[in-house]
Parts: sequence; C-alpha cells; structure tokens
Amino acid sequence: MASERRFFDFLYQRIGLDVESVGAPMIERAVQQRCELAGLATLDAYWALLTQSAQEQQALTEAVIVPETWFMRYPESFAALAQMARQRVQALRGSRPLKLLSLPCSTGEEPYSLAMTLLDAGLAPGSFRIDGVDISPQSVAKAQRGLYGRNSFRGGQLAFRERHFEAQPDGYLLNAAVRQPVRLQAGNVLDPALLAGEGVYDFVLCRNLLIYFDQPTQRRVFETLKRFLHEEGVLFIGPAEGSLLASLGMRPLRIAQAFAFVRQEPEAAAPAPVPPRVPPLAMPAPLPKAAPAPAPARRLLAPIAPAATPARPVAVEAGSELLAQIATLANEGKTLEARNACERFLREHPPRAQVFYWLGLLADVSGNGLQAQGYYRKALYLEPQHAEALAHLAMLLAGQGDEAGARRLQERAARAQGQGGSQP
Ligand SMILES: C[S@@+](CC[C@H](N)C(=O)[O-])C[C@H]1O[C@@H](n2cnc3c(N)ncnc32)[C@H](O)[C@@H]1O
Repeated sequence: MASERRFFDFLYQRIGLDVESVGAPMIERAVQQRCELAGLATLDAYWALLTQSAQEQQALTEAVIVPETWFMRYPESFAALAQMARQRVQALRGSRPLKLLSLPCSTGEEPYSLAMTLLDAGLAPGSFRIDGVDISPQSVAKAQRGLYGRNSFRGGQLAFRERHFEAQPDGYLLNAAVRQPVRLQAGNVLDPALLAGEGVYDFVLCRNLLIYFDQPTQRRVFETLKRFLHEEGVLFIGPAEGSLLASLGMRPLRIAQAFAFVRQEPEAAAPAPVPPRVPPLAMPAPLPKAAPAPAPARRLLAPIAPAATPARPVAVEAGSELLAQIATLANEGKTLEARNACERFLREHPPRAQVFYWLGLLADVSGNGLQAQGYYRKALYLEPQHAEALAHLAMLLAGQGDEAGARRLQERAARAQGQGGSQP
C-alpha cells in the first residue's frame, strides 16, 4: 500500500495524525479493515466512499486513534494539582468556579481522576468545573456511561476506587458526585472553533496527544492550548512532550513526575510552585557524600514513585548527583545536554536501567522511535519490571500495530506498578 499516501494525508489533515508517530503499517491495516467492512473490493472504491461520507471519516478516525488511558495516570501530577488547586480556589475567593480542561480526555479516566482528586482534596463540589474533550465520539460515549473495567485501574494505589465507584457485575460504576462537575464532548483540537466562548482554564491537561503530531502541528496545538490557558494557569503534558514546551517558551514547575508547565512570562504571574509531596527532581545543592539524605537520591528519579513513599535515610550512592542532573535537564527540555549527561553517566558508572530509560525518552522526544525502542529494551534487560520503560515501549509497539506485543508489555507494566513500580 506504499502508494496510499492519500489516506495518510487525509488523517493528517483531519486529526493531525503524523504517520511516523504510529507507523504506516498500523494505518494501512486500519484502512484495509475499513475497506473490507464497507464491502468494497478496491482502495480506490474505499477512497471514493471516504471522501463522501462523514460517517466513514469518523469510522476511520476511530480505527486509528490510540485511546490508551487509565485512572490517576502519573499520580504525582494529581498530587501536585490538588495542592495548586486549593491555593487557586482560595485566591479566586468564590468569584467563579475553578476551571479545568482535559484534552484529550479519551474514555474519561483523566477528567474523572481530576474530579476525584479535587473532591478528595476537600474542594466543595460546586467550586470547580471540568471539561473533557476528545475527537472520538465513541470514547466520549464510553466516558459518559462511567462504567469501567480492570484495565482502567492500574498500579497499587486504588483506594480511590472504594471511595468513588460501585462494584457491579460488569465493572465499576462511577458515583454521581464525581460525574456531576464533569462535562464531556467530542471535539477536535485542530478545530479553530473548539470551546469557543468557554473562556480560559486554570489547569489544562493535554497529555499523550502531542506525540502523535509532527512539529508544525505540535506548534499549532500548543498555540491553541495557550489560548485555553489562564495567564496564571498550569499546563500538564505527557512525559515525552516536555522538551517541546520548553522550546516554546513554557517554564517547567520542578515537581517530580508531574510534567507541569507555566508561562515563561511574566515570571511573577506564575503560581508559586507548591512544595511537592515528592522531592523536586532538581537538587538545590550537591548532597554531601555519604551524608544521610531525606530520601534516597534514586527515589527522586523513580519514574512511578508512589506519592506516599516514606522517607528513609540512606547513604548517597555513586552517580546519584549526575542522575538528578539528568532528570533536571530532561524535565527542562534540554534534550542535548540531558543526552550528553546520560552518556557521561554510562562512561563513568555501571549501566543503570534508569539512564537507558531517560535515553529512550529523549530519543522518543526527538521523534526517533526506533532508537527509543532500543534504549527501553536495554532498560528492561537491566530491570525487567521498570514500569515506565514497559509503558513507553508498549506505546511504541502499539503505534507500530503490534497490538499483542503492546498488550503483553502493558500487562507487565500494570503488574510492575501493582508490585510498587520500578526498583528504586
Ligand atoms: C493516548 S490517549 C490520551 C488520553 C489521556 N490524555 C491520557 O494521557 O491518559 C490519546 C487521545 O487523543 C485523542 N485524539 C487524537 N487526535 C485528536 C484530536 N485531533 N483532537 C482531539 N483528540 C484527539 C484520541 O481519540 C485519544 O483518545
């Protein structure tokens, strides 16, 4: 199907999907399946249908999107958001509800996680409002049903499920109190009229969408996100998307594993970074050798560090300062410097899974999926349960159409998180 560029171009124009991000075979397979389901013998006939039928356009879109999501994904981001939201509500003094946007919201796990987080943080039910938007009407409809299976609950910290869901024979049904502040709708981030008249949001989550776009589209979407974001607002993105934002004039809040950014200027307008529940990635000063640290330096870098990990004094280990430096550089979007620091680490110290994981992320960010795969595999060779390397490699495999491989890794990642995540 090498000549079927027209389908790639169609998806690029319609939803911004960059064929390189998911791999041509995945799109080719989806087109072929849609063609067969429509009972058509040739791709020319399918192209004719596609160009005339809005329904078929939607069906092909549904076939190529990656709706992968789960509740409380990146738990540190929700912990940080809870603290910032409390401060923001106080600052607003009841003048209006706090406003949050989850774009894309997929099947609803992300906006509902926001609602649970804010309710659990003690915010009054009427004091906030959450909008969720996704290009997939099917995903939005699933979100509106509010019934979730096991795959939506990953990791070991599932106490929220007891508080906010009711167990049913066919899954877990979300309580009305969590649904109430959440409004869901289908919409395209590329649509200039999207959320027209809705005003700006205090918190915008745009996670795991930009990775599917090429650079011009990322820039375009970023301008849209900036339009949605209050001057003093906070933008949360996915772990592989940080370097783009830093290069587009956003400043990372140094909150470990939260992937949160504010506008670069005016500096004074940015909300004060709250003390994170987990220590910041950047260490303020080099730790004295062998001195007891408040938490192990490796913990700073643990990709899915449970938020409530108790601090325990340990001796600082070799290379921990360089590891912390790598994390800071990567989170600030200094890709080249971060990569150099990783290479230096590997020259000077025994190989570490975490360093290969960072190299994988950095390659991912630069659009080099193949190289990223190699690094994630090395991380897993050293540490088979490295949850983030598993999750990212799974995403890359899914992007290439290797759904079975991706599922196996996701299951492994879920088990790894259930056992407490990556080894510190
Ligand atoms: C991997 S999910 C991310 C969900 C959630 N933000 C998270 O990180 O868990 C990506 C979602 O992006 C949506 N999407 C893809 N292109 C889009 C577009 N142009 N506008 C809005 N949503 C889009 C897909 O339907 C899919 O649900």
